[in-house]
Amino acid sequence: MPTYDQELVDRILAATDIVALVGSVVPLTKRSGDNLFGRCPFHKEKTASFSVNRRKQIFHCFGCGVGGDAIGWLMRYEKINFPEAVRRLAEQAKIDLPRYRPSGEDSLNESLFRLHEVAQKLFLERLRDSSNTKAQSAMDYLLGRGLTPETIDSCGIGLAPDSWDTFALLAMREGFRIEQLLGSGLCGRNDSGNVYDRFRDRITFPIQNLSNRIVGFGARVLPGKDDGAKYLNSPETAIYKKSEILYGLPWARDEIRKQDSVIVVEGYLDLISLHQFGVQNVVATSGTALTNRQARLLHRFSPKVFLVYDGDEAGRRASLRGGDVMIAEGLDVHVAFLPEGEDPDTYVQKFGAEAFHGLLLQGQGWLEHQYAHFVRLGALNSPSDTVAALRELIRVLREMSDSTIQNFWVKRIAQRFQIAESVVRHELSRGTIATRNDDDETVDTQTEWNEDEAQIIAFLVKYRETPEDFEYHKRIHRWLKPDIFTTPPLRALYDLFVRKWLEENEFPEISDLIATAKLFPQLEDWVNSVLMQKLSKIPHQPNPSVIDEIDFFEHDLAMTEEKIRVLMVPVYERQIEEIEFKIVRASQQELPELFQSKHQVNRIIKQLQKTGFLAISTSDL
Ligand code: UTP
Ligand code: MN
Repeated sequence: MPTYDQELVDRILAATDIVALVGSVVPLTKRSGDNLFGRCPFHKEKTASFSVNRRKQIFHCFGCGVGGDAIGWLMRYEKINFPEAVRRLAEQAKIDLPRYRPSGEDSLNESLFRLHEVAQKLFLERLRDSSNTKAQSAMDYLLGRGLTPETIDSCGIGLAPDSWDTFALLAMREGFRIEQLLGSGLCGRNDSGNVYDRFRDRITFPIQNLSNRIVGFGARVLPGKDDGAKYLNSPETAIYKKSEILYGLPWARDEIRKQDSVIVVEGYLDLISLHQFGVQNVVATSGTALTNRQARLLHRFSPKVFLVYDGDEAGRRASLRGGDVMIAEGLDVHVAFLPEGEDPDTYVQKFGAEAFHGLLLQGQGWLEHQYAHFVRLGALNSPSDTVAALRELIRVLREMSDSTIQNFWVKRIAQRFQIAESVVRHELSRGTIATRNDDDETVDTQTEWNEDEAQIIAFLVKYRETPEDFEYHKRIHRWLKPDIFTTPPLRALYDLFVRKWLEENEFPEISDLIATAKLFPQLEDWVNSVLMQKLSKIPHQPNPSVIDEIDFFEHDLAMTEEKIRVLMVPVYERQIEEIEFKIVRASQQELPELFQSKHQVNRIIKQLQKTGFLAISTSDL
């Protein structure tokens, strides 16, 4: 990571106005003192809880909690790293950055980027060289396919020379070394050791990363030439990580945010044609199976995806692949199919953008699509097949990480299969804690298990006998709203306690605990081990050492207090922030009350930190 010295960074920040910077992309409609307010670009909201403070030169969202200075803003909004953000701001402020000496790896990458710039310049010039007959026919071909000269320019389409070494020689003349040429993927080396250009006599489509730098090319064979593959693509290189790049994303990202949806197509020309017709929230997978990294990348811009595939059977299969991956990343996937024989390019050229949007609207939600798939296969004709289909749909459902969408589908599936929602939910909750297979991450993304939460639940499970225990339970209940639990199995257990406390003024029985625990495989073992701990710690000799037992209890109680502190202090701190937010906008009359509640919350935090939850009188809460 390159670092710039703090003094320089401060100077760049001082020359930047965050209000103008943010205001150029987020309408800041309301104003109160130094704060301007707008709708947060980082989460969905109806009210304006996103603020930019002119004096402090920071932004903060009271809804989702993001915040920072101008550099932080750019990093988050543009998805770029720190040095990149500093560089952009310096550029805007016309401040010269010292030549930063990159580490070895960065300088290699930089040389690869620069090699691609050399290639791009060559390809661009070649296509536009009207004295060259190859160029003429390539240009005619593109125009004949309905692309405008503006589109050809804005997408950087070019032509690789019909030669084995034009690029290689050019690059070496510019001082690049052979290892760099090979490392860029733009050149290869044959058996006799000669370096040659990978892209020859093909129409080239530059592929850019999110910093708008070219990392590779797709290259289409010229018409009338039968030259192996229709498209030749750059290989994976140090700067072209195929699983992380989506063609067209840098052009599409603003529109994806604006529309809050992204259309995924397969081909370079599909994307380019759609763009020309004004459909600009599009990315292309370049004909390969979508990876979960790409899905995650899309999720950062919008959770809603339209998969558009050609109307042939291969398209259908591809959609099945990509959809599963996206569902697993929590995307809301819709599928739209084109008529037989069309691809997005031919379709939009023939019928226009309106018709294309119409197709998207007619598309199916992912589960709907899967359901239709089962119907097509005749899977719902027998009871056993129906059960199998139901299992499969629930498997998809389980992979959805968005609980709102999941709930929607629980209802829908229950309707479709004419079964009770609770049955679907029961099926759904089985195995939710199982590990998910993630092909490109070394750490298993196990369902989060929050140890702080577990400690508190363990306390409840262990001590549920005496009236004093009940007092502790009641106190915990007053402090901890169920929503504080982020671990689903623990939340389920806590819900059980709450229900028993409220409805029966009682503790749950062991059988109740086990029944709930059985819904989550890991939880069952955990509950058993907690109960075992309790048994093993209470001595069963005729002369029980009461002191020991009390010590265990005291220890557990202290731990629980500590965990409640850990969980609750941030909650109250957020409350303080919210109150401060209101104070900034409040009228004179409202102020005393706001200051009063701020004071009160502050006191709770202090007490929590000093004495723990047991010492605080509940009337304070
Ligand atoms: P298509 O065969 O659908 O091509 O492949 P296309 O995009 O419609 O191209 P035109 O309209 O015939 O010119 C879809 C995508 O699959 C990748 C490319 O990214 C292509 O855009 N592909 C296809 C390859 O990488 N290699 C190939 O040989 C074919
Ligand atoms: Mn096509």
